[in-house]
Amino acid sequence: MALIVVKAGGRALTENMEKIVTSIAEASKNHRIILVHGGGELVTEYSKRLGIEPRFVTSPQGVRSRYTTREELEVFVMALGGLLNKKLAVMLARHGAKPIGLTGIDGFALLAKRRKRIVIVDEKTRRRRVIPGGYTGKVVGVNNQLLRDLLDDGYTPVIAPIAYDPEEATLLNVDGDQAAARIAASLRANALIILTDVDGLIVDGKLVNKLTLSQAIRLVEEGKIGPGMNRKIIEVARAVEEGVEYAVITNASHNNPVAEGLKGRGTVLTMG
Ligand SMILES: Nc1ncnc2c1ncn2[C@@H]1O[C@H](COP(=O)(O)OP(=O)(O)O)[C@@H](O)[C@H]1O
Ligand SMILES: [Mg+2]
Repeated sequence: MALIVVKAGGRALTENMEKIVTSIAEASKNHRIILVHGGGELVTEYSKRLGIEPRFVTSPQGVRSRYTTREELEVFVMALGGLLNKKLAVMLARHGAKPIGLTGIDGFALLAKRRKRIVIVDEKTRRRRVIPGGYTGKVVGVNNQLLRDLLDDGYTPVIAPIAYDPEEATLLNVDGDQAAARIAASLRANALIILTDVDGLIVDGKLVNKLTLSQAIRLVEEGKIGPGMNRKIIEVARAVEEGVEYAVITNASHNNPVAEGLKGRGTVLTMG
């Protein structure tokens, strides 16, 4: 019985929820599975419905990213930790699995540290400014004993990427890939399967099937990988470095995507 952490991205879930859930339920018959899910798109949708304007900031490097305000954190908790998390749990139950849906505060499953300050470039004046970091954080801890106990009891933990910050007693929005990779590393998982909306890492128009840690780091440093995939590769590589046997980035649109990933379809990352 292998211990497998599966991460399913937001767009992958929107497009292939049934395939993903069926595949996880199937795998949970023979393996111990933890599902970490994304869902940024759903948060955007509900923010709009609630009349909350998304805020974006631009870094001095010119990278524009989403800024999590307190109001938006609340939508994260409602839409991701609430609706989507429970919807996935119900669908898994329908397929015979025994799910338990969690956010980071539940049993202190996932701990994070808030980014206190960030440097941004003011879009009007073009001047640099330092502003509070907002409600996003870096994952700094995983309650692996809790997760092991749940797995021992036959549960399939379903985890929303919302972590608890013990310093400030608040919840924080964290990156889904990072949450999955930290959980996999902390549990020394046999495999980390990342289900996304592309076939894997594409370099010069071709799918890279095998990648060692040093090759992955070089590609990132050379700036050959675009946003989204870039962060994924960094997080996944760190997990492999810390003892996850192998990681696979694969397309959630395959039939039985978890099994395909385990077989090595997509981009497989190993120590080398
Ligand atoms: N070199 C690359 N190979 C594959 N995908 C890439 C690459 N560079 C950027 N990407 C983008 O990364 C995206 C996947 O990351 P992301 O949007 O964060 O999805 P997820 O929700 O699954 O984390 C792909 O849809 C693709 O547009
Ligand atoms: Mg992503």
